[in-house]
Amino acid sequence: MAKRTSLHGMWSSRFAFILAVAGSAVGLGNIWKFPYMAGQNGGGAFVLFYLACVVAIGLPIMISEIMIGRRGRRNPIATMRIVGEEEGSRPSWGLVGVMGIFAGFLILSFYSVIAGWALAYFVFSLGGKFNAATPESIGSLFGGLLGNWKAMAVWHTIFMALTIAIVARGVERGLERFVRVAMPGLLLLLIILLVYAIVAADFARGWVFLLQPNFAALTRQAMLEAMGQAFFTLSVGMGAIMAYGAYLPEGTSILRTSIWVVVADTSIALLAGLIIFPIVFANGLDPASGPGLIFETLPLAFGGMPGGTMLAPIFFGLLVFAAWTSAIGLLEPAVAWSVESHGRSRRSAAMVIGLIIWGLGFLTIFSFNLMSDFRFLGGTIFDNIDHLASNVLLPLGGLFITIFAGWVMCKNSSSEELDIGTGPAYGIWRFLARWLAPAAVLVVFLHATGLLDRLGLI
Ligand code: TRP
Repeated sequence: MAKRTSLHGMWSSRFAFILAVAGSAVGLGNIWKFPYMAGQNGGGAFVLFYLACVVAIGLPIMISEIMIGRRGRRNPIATMRIVGEEEGSRPSWGLVGVMGIFAGFLILSFYSVIAGWALAYFVFSLGGKFNAATPESIGSLFGGLLGNWKAMAVWHTIFMALTIAIVARGVERGLERFVRVAMPGLLLLLIILLVYAIVAADFARGWVFLLQPNFAALTRQAMLEAMGQAFFTLSVGMGAIMAYGAYLPEGTSILRTSIWVVVADTSIALLAGLIIFPIVFANGLDPASGPGLIFETLPLAFGGMPGGTMLAPIFFGLLVFAAWTSAIGLLEPAVAWSVESHGRSRRSAAMVIGLIIWGLGFLTIFSFNLMSDFRFLGGTIFDNIDHLASNVLLPLGGLFITIFAGWVMCKNSSSEELDIGTGPAYGIWRFLARWLAPAAVLVVFLHATGLLDRLGLI
């Protein structure tokens, strides 16, 4: 088959691609969302189920996304349509891309608001606001931020502008340099924080909470959220990784890249958990306090450790970087689509789409103040946006993507594109993509509705 080329340039090297995918995967999902989700869902059993989802569902889908993306070399909508037709299936596979782009809008709208909190904390820490921190002083600092929607709007606006600026320039030129510095830096700071958690906080209790499974806490809802978190943290299910795969040169090992990224992403999430929970327990805080968890705990560590005044701004600065490289990946599919199918310039596409998402972000901002009492299905507007995108749309998109990779694409196409022959590694991937991953997503969905219990199947 004659190979297509991307309209947006290519990653300059294999390493650049790994960095881009890792940059997309590692972000607020690991450091902000994973700990608070684990805390709300009772710890160990949630974590174990999450890890199982990462390996059995997330990894094969990541491989599938990169593979489909490189084969199609277009935005996710066009890629699914073109490759689908090539494989003798329907053009309506493009709808999976449409759903993904919608999910990306929703996710980026709240992602940018939370990244705005990290940006605010960067500035707070520069101003010495964490010195002599107590749970009360940090609680009121954070509460003050949440209560002030105008301040949140300013930080959200700055973060969105940063994201738009990079996507407008083209991902392959914009991204590489950041990830190369930010990722090792973030890892180093997390290790320093881990030492603090071991030496000065209640590490034993944190460890037990995070890693010792208590299966009674694993409710139907917790299982759905663990699966959603696996999708969210790996950036799979919406075509973001597919869009990056479109710029991948031939001859790069998709399998090895994916495994590497999954290991790095998972380690960083676990590391964050092992830092947060010892601090939570040492200070008598509530592990189930929700989205504010890291913003109410980490300043205590920086306030109490030698050199913390200097390390805090570095940490929050790097967290903003990590969020930035993820946000870029969330915006890219929609922008690539707009450029390719409407002939817009990258600049104007990034600005128009970014502006829409920026506007949507106000729903999240107001969820923490003006509309914090509003409840729908037991949650705030933010809870609902996150739930719809992370726990419904991403797994649904992932389900279609893996069915596409395992069933619609013929064996010749997938083994050619993965370039690992048809030996055991290929066999395992194909089994996961055809059977285990789709079945697992369906079972968790069904279980979440309570149907399996009612039918007496579980
Ligand atoms: N994975 C990122 C994080 O954990 C968030 C993210 C970036 C994402 N791109 C995505 C989530 C695409 C879902 C889909 O912070």
